[in-house]
Amino acid sequence: MSSSTQSSDLETQLASLRAEAEGAIAQSTTLEELEQLRIKYLGKKGSLSQVLGGMGKLSAEQRPRIGAIANEVKEAVQTRLDEARGALQAAAIAAQLEAETLDVTMPGTFRPQGQGHPLTNTANRMIDIFVGLGYTVATGPEMETDYYNFEALNFQPDHPARDMQDTLFLPNGNLLRTHTSSVQIRYMEENDPPIRIVSPGRCYRRDTVDATHSAVFHQLEILAVDEGLTFTDLKGTLKVFLEAMFGEIEIRFRPSYFPFTEPSAEVDVKWKGRWLEVMGCGMVDPNVLKSVGYDPEVYTGFAAGLGVERIAMVLHQLDDIRRFYTSDLRFLRQF
Ligand code: DAH
Repeated sequence: MSSSTQSSDLETQLASLRAEAEGAIAQSTTLEELEQLRIKYLGKKGSLSQVLGGMGKLSAEQRPRIGAIANEVKEAVQTRLDEARGALQAAAIAAQLEAETLDVTMPGTFRPQGQGHPLTNTANRMIDIFVGLGYTVATGPEMETDYYNFEALNFQPDHPARDMQDTLFLPNGNLLRTHTSSVQIRYMEENDPPIRIVSPGRCYRRDTVDATHSAVFHQLEILAVDEGLTFTDLKGTLKVFLEAMFGEIEIRFRPSYFPFTEPSAEVDVKWKGRWLEVMGCGMVDPNVLKSVGYDPEVYTGFAAGLGVERIAMVLHQLDDIRRFYTSDLRFLRQF
């Protein structure tokens, strides 16, 4: 075969390779298909390489011409591949945009707003009033030792006052605190006077649950220790608190007994024509001050323990303490 025959032969092959490749590219619908076609036609072992393998037999004059045609074919096929790839990618993005279209005119999802539990809100209001009077929040553990719940608070070992506390003792020898008064001792052990603390928290008693009793309930303790504090300071403080809480209200102090205060009193407020007990209070017993190493000749103090449930029930005119714990949304949403 003459080299001119070979030359025109190669030209034909290149032309049909180009036509075939362009046709296949036009038909392809995925990026993977395009990649297969690139390998098939332009790859190292692809059709173009094979055709060019025949160039060795060409004469020196023919080679540049065929070489030029081969380059042209290669570029043309590459251009078609690039165009097709670009078109497929654009189509994919368009499809994705279409699928992910966000209709900003659609109504949103309604998410109801939560709110504090009435007990939490009541406790927070109570705390705020005392913080406003210069008190600092202090807390203590719910599992207590006999020492902090009773002994350091001047409960004698066999005194009937212990009985009144209906204590839940734990198998490990500790107990669930029956009042927040235990925090008084913990705080005074760690701090020197003057002291003004407000201590909210959960308390436990071995009580049968009924409309006015719950085995788990909440108290707010206050304690002030300083030089020269008197019962007048206690009374004034509690009056300011109760008026901030309930507004203009009648108050009465009734003599009472607590081992950790002397004298002791209970405070009633007149609510809807009835006297309701809302807290216990008194002047800190000298024995309590001694138990934490304070000199009772220098310092005096007053304290009070308020039932959060009791205050919330008065505030919201509720007659059943159990409502606070049953998580009935119809009840809770009223507040
Ligand atoms: N801890 C007492 C109780 O739960 C309440 C109480 C009374 C606390 C008098 C006080 C107080 O701080 O001074 O029964």
